Amino acid sequence: MQRILVTGGAGFIGCNFVHYIMEHGSVHVTVLDKLTYAGNESSLVGLPPERFEFIKGDICDSVLVDRLTASVDAVVHFAAESHNDNSLQDPRPFMDTNLLGTYTLIEAARKHGTRFHHISTDEVYGDLALDEPTRFTEDSVYRPTSPYSATKAGSDLLVRAWVRSFGLRATISNCSNNYGPYQHVEKFIPRQITNLLDGHRPRLYGKGLNVRDWIHVEDHSSAVAAILERGRIGETYLIGADGEQSNRTVVEKLLHLVGQPSDAYDLVTDRPGHDLRYAIDSTKLRRELGWRPLFEDFDAGLAATVQWYQENEDWWRPQKAETEVKYAGQGH
Ligand code: NAD
Ligand code: DAU
Repeated sequence: MQRILVTGGAGFIGCNFVHYIMEHGSVHVTVLDKLTYAGNESSLVGLPPERFEFIKGDICDSVLVDRLTASVDAVVHFAAESHNDNSLQDPRPFMDTNLLGTYTLIEAARKHGTRFHHISTDEVYGDLALDEPTRFTEDSVYRPTSPYSATKAGSDLLVRAWVRSFGLRATISNCSNNYGPYQHVEKFIPRQITNLLDGHRPRLYGKGLNVRDWIHVEDHSSAVAAILERGRIGETYLIGADGEQSNRTVVEKLLHLVGQPSDAYDLVTDRPGHDLRYAIDSTKLRRELGWRPLFEDFDAGLAATVQWYQENEDWWRPQKAETEVKYAGQGH
């Protein structure tokens, strides 16, 4: 592949993918990003200008999307409204970007015969009980529970239909919770790290018992690169790194890292409909494509992430106060 279009490349996972793919090859990358509250162009500084172009625009803009899609070999589609709490306050942007935006992109990819990779989430499968060993596989039933996950499920189904009905050359990946540099402070781990750096206590929803399956964002990038290169058209691949942790355990680890007592957190109002547990079985990706995560030591990855937020206050500070005002209004 010579040229790729990356949607949502100014967001958390998109920018990490752009850095990864440009460091690991000679591909030319065009980023299309609307720069919503979650997009930050400064996450893309330092990329080689002869191989990189940034376009500010909306994936729902069919004229722009058609023009950009016509000139690339592949589209890697990260752009989304991505935060569950926001989707519970105002679902509308989720409908527009996650459903209509994906539709706009796959129509352009169909017209131009462009290879398409759709980035999705394990949340499309709903949640699992806390006390069972079951994990999600590619055959799990779609059972989304929030407006966010319902729109992501809808976008997956659109891509699947375009593969079957129109022969779209697409793959889909559903990944678990990512952590690492450049993640917006609204999300769980950066919120607690920046609270601690500001001298405030971490805030756990409910009793803090919900479990998430953490993967370092660079492992997500390497998995997407493997699927782009070697994935079978029409297939779905689950991406995960066996990183299950309860939210309370994550907060206790963060408190330990900054030298505070393990119970120095607050329990706050729970998220309505809060999914209990996610867990990914990534056997298919590992067996078929030979992918392996490199950041398997969660404690080391967490320590490096704390250090990144300590060293990059200029990046996150402008988002922090506004984010906390929003959370205060929700009782979180
Ligand atoms: P993010 O919110 O950090 O970034 C989203 C990016 O998309 C932002 O740069 C934003 O400006 C851009 N965007 C939003 N609407 C747009 C539009 N209409 N047109 C163009 N650009 C638009 O999200 P993220 O956490 O990086 O997630 C990226 C993708 O990965 C999403 O599709 C999400 O569903 C998926 N995903 C996320 C996780 C996770 O843990 N964060 C896990 C699995 C899958
Ligand atoms: O599983 C993949 C999904 O992971 C992605 O599809 C989403 O885009 C991404 O946002 C993430 O969704 P979650 O809802 O799991 O992530 P969030 O960071 O919002 O919350 C993680 C867990 O932490 C969840 O159980 C809620 C809890 N939480 C969150 C915040 C912000 C707290 O206890 N306190 C908090 O302050």
